[in-house]
Amino acid sequence: MAKDFATMEDSNRSDNPSIHQISDPARRIFVQGSLGALASGPLAPLALSALAGCASLPGAASGPRLGFKSVPMSDVDTVVVPEGYRATVLYRWGDPVGIAGRMPAFKPDASNTAAEQELQAGMHHDGIHYFPLDGDRRGLLAMNHEYTDDGLLHVGGFTPWTAEKVAKSQAAHGVSIIEVERSAEGWRVVRPSRYARRITGNTPMMISGPARGHAMMRTRDDASGAVVLGTLNNCAHGYTPWGTYLTCEENFIGYFSGPEQPTAEQRRWGLRRGGWGYRWHEHDERFDATKHPNEYNRFGWVVEVDPMDPNSTPIKRTALGRAAHEGAWVVQAKDGRAVVYMGEDARFEYIYKFVSRDPVRPGGASANRELLDHGTLYVAKFNADGSGQWIELTAGKNGLTAERGFATQGDVVIKSRQASDLVGATKMDRPEWIADDPTTGWIYCTLTNNSNRGKDGQAPVDAANPRAENQMGHIIRWKEEGDFTGTRFAWNHFVLAGDPAQSRAEDKGNIKGDIFGSPDGIWVDRRGVMWIQTDISTSALGKGVYANMPNNAMLAADPTTGEVRRFLVGPRGCEVTGVITTPDLRTMFVNIQHPGESPSERSDPAKPTAISTWPDGPGAGRPRSATIVITKNDGGVIGS
Ligand code: FEO
Ligand code: CA
Ligand code: CA
Repeated sequence: MAKDFATMEDSNRSDNPSIHQISDPARRIFVQGSLGALASGPLAPLALSALAGCASLPGAASGPRLGFKSVPMSDVDTVVVPEGYRATVLYRWGDPVGIAGRMPAFKPDASNTAAEQELQAGMHHDGIHYFPLDGDRRGLLAMNHEYTDDGLLHVGGFTPWTAEKVAKSQAAHGVSIIEVERSAEGWRVVRPSRYARRITGNTPMMISGPARGHAMMRTRDDASGAVVLGTLNNCAHGYTPWGTYLTCEENFIGYFSGPEQPTAEQRRWGLRRGGWGYRWHEHDERFDATKHPNEYNRFGWVVEVDPMDPNSTPIKRTALGRAAHEGAWVVQAKDGRAVVYMGEDARFEYIYKFVSRDPVRPGGASANRELLDHGTLYVAKFNADGSGQWIELTAGKNGLTAERGFATQGDVVIKSRQASDLVGATKMDRPEWIADDPTTGWIYCTLTNNSNRGKDGQAPVDAANPRAENQMGHIIRWKEEGDFTGTRFAWNHFVLAGDPAQSRAEDKGNIKGDIFGSPDGIWVDRRGVMWIQTDISTSALGKGVYANMPNNAMLAADPTTGEVRRFLVGPRGCEVTGVITTPDLRTMFVNIQHPGESPSERSDPAKPTAISTWPDGPGAGRPRSATIVITKNDGGVIGS
């Protein structure tokens, strides 16, 4: 979600001074051109061993990782990929998901009903994963549908505004699970498929973990505090070693309308009168927080879905904490435990890590049904000297006492933000996706931007977030001391995004290669190629510091050299978010979100094609988010 934060949430006014606020530019560590600084830092042996590991990477040994010719920035209304590559459209908003006997066709005038939308691809495709059924030629794609543009979703947009339109908007949120296969003609969606499923804003889900049954989770319609309808604002994702999909609830607060004068607790989560303009509360009082004040506590979680069982009930895993979760990236420690890294995408929010109590067991989803219910939650603190620590968020520890409102672990996970404020975690510049480099063990996190950094009354620059009014964003990385379960790490900046043509020093960045800004999606494939996707707000595209970036893009980087090359430019008004390949790296799936989005993020229903007609082209009724398939004409590895 692009998020014009001038009009959206910015709720962290906590005063949690700590060492990270003491900016010490002389000791800042940048990976590019600063290896000497890393070697002389207090954690030099750890950092150096990580760098030494780079020399023996499989990709490095067999030649350059990036073999394609960079594509220029463009403002055209199409997907641009390098010479020798092809991009085709696979799965658009409104395409039937593929449930037997229930496959309504998309109506280009947006007149599909809510009931039909429940059987079709949702809007605003986001995080995506490929689960093989037959290796590289047939599998399931699980993907998120983050939010809706009600100007495009309905005939007449908000006019008139009806219960049916609210239901359609709710049905356009959530998750799609589709079966895909490669045929002689290319990749196609298998219809019907016994796996095909839509999960929406109204799908029944279980609540598990420490918050299950908590007083703050109980509502008029669910006295148990254990069952909830739906998942919302599903942004990035994760997947587990036991074969499940994690979908993450990001800006859930925007759907709820609060009181004129919110409480301190409500303010910390950004609840306000009217919400972010979805207007669901006008016809579905569940979203009126003045009538149902606990409903919004039941969102902001990581939701586990078994893609192989279309009848399974999704489970909200509260042990992982509550946040405006961007994603949930899972790695496995040497002792078999699962470690989940999570960013909270809001200005001045935090980076989290969950370490499971138990090791992953063989036997797939059924053998690991409770694995994410037991473990330890941590929040990150980035010190100015390049070291860092994971601070445990456990009731009774680190000042999280009953007197301060943390009597139980349920209190801690429901109020993760307040707990993190209290323990002095580092306020970050909007943590987005997190990814591990399987060839080195470094963990990378995109920090998309934070134009309020350093402004009066806001947190000052610090070592980890070093630029005032950070409009361009950066990518931070860390290496755990010991294993992924460790509580100390060494960190540095992989890159500061920007454009050297800009006049303000803070906007220039230090990219070695093609310019980009507002990094959001990030994934490192098993060759060690880093894929970076951008989400420059549609109100900023092509203007001001983004004058040279009219469309959003996807870039590939070589983490060993720092080189960045532009691989794809999206159509007008889109963000590029969601990327995965088949295991052989020869088919890549990418999501193009909200083509044609207007700067207000809500289209004029009278002019649905004012900005874009992608992907249906001239004569299209309206632009549509879509999954695309990228292949190399010679059948080779993507990016090579
Ligand atoms: Fe939904 Fe933070 O992007
Ligand atoms: Ca985003
Ligand atoms: Ca995102």
